[in-house]
Order: sequence, then structure tokens, then C-alpha cells
Amino acid sequence: MVSLFNVPTVIIVGGGASNEVGAQAKRLKSKHVLLVTDTFMVSCGLAGKISDAIKKEGIKVTVFDGVQPDPTDKNVLQGLDVCKKNGCDLIVGLGGGSPMDCAKIISVLTANEPPLSNYAGLNKVPNKGVPTIMISTTAGTGAEVTKAAVISDTERDVKMLIMDVNNTADVALVDYELTMSCPGSLTANVGVDTLVHAVEGYVSKKANAMTDPLALSAIKLVSKYLLKAFKEPSNAEAREGMMMASLQAGMAFANSSVCLVHGMSRPIGALYHVPHGLSNAVLFPAVTEFSIPGATARYATVARTMGYAKESDVDADACKKLVDGLKKLNVDLKIPRLGDVVKVDRAAFDTKVEKMANDGLASGSPNNNPIVPTAQQIIELYHKAW
Ligand SMILES: NC(=O)c1ccc[n+]([C@@H]2O[C@H](COP(=O)([O-])OP(=O)(O)OC[C@H]3O[C@@H](n4cnc5c(N)ncnc54)[C@H](O)[C@@H]3O)[C@@H](O)[C@H]2O)c1
Ligand SMILES: [Fe+2]
Repeated sequence: MVSLFNVPTVIIVGGGASNEVGAQAKRLKSKHVLLVTDTFMVSCGLAGKISDAIKKEGIKVTVFDGVQPDPTDKNVLQGLDVCKKNGCDLIVGLGGGSPMDCAKIISVLTANEPPLSNYAGLNKVPNKGVPTIMISTTAGTGAEVTKAAVISDTERDVKMLIMDVNNTADVALVDYELTMSCPGSLTANVGVDTLVHAVEGYVSKKANAMTDPLALSAIKLVSKYLLKAFKEPSNAEAREGMMMASLQAGMAFANSSVCLVHGMSRPIGALYHVPHGLSNAVLFPAVTEFSIPGATARYATVARTMGYAKESDVDADACKKLVDGLKKLNVDLKIPRLGDVVKVDRAAFDTKVEKMANDGLASGSPNNNPIVPTAQQIIELYHKAW
């Protein structure tokens, strides 16, 4: 099998890495940066700090802070307008996955005519836009290193997945110190997102020799540090470990694909505005149990890597321990059930579940799952997670 591996040309990792933003903007010969972020990043002062670091190099900065969590096509078009009006030649994305995805897609639209829906799917972006630098403040989506972005289509109520090498940042600045302020629920949600990226990246039909070591290393780091970061928010070692896990998982899944958890999770986000990591977390144990027969040896390796199973356990026992371990992890991270997070009653949910199953399948991610489900099996899995 031939496999393709895309990551940013420059990845700078470690405490203080975000201070490199000015030097990197200068290296990319920018005269005017568009800083794409959200209102929290402005109010906590981080956007100002990053702007100052860029301005120090004699480069102008315009801030666009109109990104909402789970960004929409409208956020992207507003940002694009600001970019064009100010003649910006470089885009810096600052924040969690939402500002970074929005920043990456504003760049895409500087060189590809709207509508954005033309570019949804795999390898559909013909031209590379203005260069981008991504600075992540959560650990994390891995969006700083992936060629993916998820943008909500407000007309059709679906989350569009845009996957293309022309959607990869030029520079990723991976600075765990920026994650120290994440509250517990955010740490838990994005941390499980990282774990799902790593596990799905490892069991995907497109997993390969380039992605496997990154995925397994990320799984190990999450096992060691996620609960610690959740319980001890100021534990720098745990934050650094989770940031590395997020980075490695991002490099893995973007080059081997996410699978059924993500396929089923996006429709929940699109319809009920549940945070992405949380909608992954509520589905993860049930989808893992369903998928195990398609990749038993790989899931057993995941169980052993996480420390849920012993080396001496046979694969079937290890897989059972994995499902039990993931259920307990959700409890330990105070992650509720699907029924609690969508905040509608079961009858109302059931009127939407068929659309959700079909949208999930249409995204393409379930095709890479160890077992490719039917729409009916997806509906049953939503019910199981309820
Ligand atoms: N492009 C990719 O490869 C990829 C992968 C996974 C998920 N995603 C997308 O990323 C988005 C989710 O991103 P996310 O989970 O990082 O959250 P987010 O960017 O939506 O942020 C959630 C909230 O956390 C706040 N926040 C961010 N950093 C903080 C910090 N350091 N301290 C305190 N608060 C902070 C934000 O201001 C916001 O209010 C979804 O839209 C999802 O679809 C993209
Ligand atoms: Fe994700």
C-alpha cells in the first residue's frame, strides 16, 4: 500500500514556542498579519501578547475575533472579508480547534472562490492560499498540524470536513504553557478527542508505518497524563505530555483518517452544539465495542498500551478490558451520557437520528472504520450511547 504523509514544514515544540511567532512571520516575509481568534483569547490577553510579538518585527496586525466554538461558514466569510479589506498576507490562528480551523479555511478561500461546500471532502482544494501559522491553546485537536478543518454549513446543518494538503499550516507553534488555563471540562473533552484521534488513527484501514508509531506514542502519553492534567490543572509535566500527545495524534490521524466515532460525532455537534471532544467521548466506548471484531489485534495492542490489559492477556480479554477501561475513563473525567449532553428528550432525538446516521456516513470517515456500519447499525449505536 502507498501512503501519503502531510505535516507543516516547520513545527516548533516546547514551553515558550509561541514566542517564535514574530520570527516566523518575518521569515514568511509578511507585512500584515490577520490574527484569527475568539473573544476569550482577546479578553485573557493572549491575543494581545501574540500581536505584540508580531508587531515587534515591524509587521502590522489586524485581529479578527469573530470565531465561535464549532466555527461556521459565516465566521469564515466574515474573516475573509477582514483579510481582503486589510490586504493581509499571512494568517495566524490562535486558540483551540475552532479558531485554527477558521483561520486555515480563510486562507483556503483567499485562493479558491466560495462557496466553501465545493471543497468539502478529501483532496478537493485546488490552490494554496496565503501562508498560515497555527498556535494551539488546547490539547487538543491537533489542528495545528493536520490538513483537516471542520466548518459548519449553516444552511444544511452539517459539519463539513475539508481534508487537503492545501489546508495544512506552514508553521505550527506547540506551546503547552498556553494550555495551563484550560478548565477541567475543557481538558477532559479535548483530551478524549486526542485519545480518539490516536486510537482511530491506529485502527483505521489507512493506518500505516508512518502513522502507527505516532498513534501509539500518543495513546501512551494520554494514559499517563490525561487524568493528571484533569485533576491537577497546574501540573506542567502533565500539560506538556498532553500537548505532545495531541500533536502526535494529529500527525497520525490526518494521515490515516479518523473513523466511526468522528463520523457519528459531527452530526451531534451540528444539530445539538455539543463540544466536539464531548460528543466523541460519549460515543467512544460503544463504538469501540462495535468495531473490535474488525481489528481485534490492534484494539488489543491499544488496551496493552493504555495499561488496561497485561502483555499476557489474550487479544479477546484485552479488548474486553479496553471497553471497560474506556467506560471508567469517562466516569473519572465526569463525562455524562449522550442523553445528558444533547439536552433534548429521546423522542425528539429519534426524529433526527436517521439524518444523523446518513450525514455521518456521507462524511466518509466511517468507511475507514475496521467495520463499516450500515445506517441502521449507526442508529443502534446512538441508542446504545444514550
Ligand atoms: N482540524 C482538525 O484536525 C480538527 C480535529 C479535531 C477537532 N476539530 C474541531 O475543533 C473544534 C473544537 O476545538 P477545541 O476542542 O480545541 O475547542 P474550541 O476551539 O472550540 O474552544 C472551546 C472553548 O475553550 C476556550 N479555550 C481555548 N483555549 C483555552 C485555554 N487555553 N484556556 C481557557 N479556555 C480556552 C475557547 O475560548 C472556547 O470558549 C471543533 O470545531 C472540531 O470540529 C478540528
Ligand atoms: Fe477530533
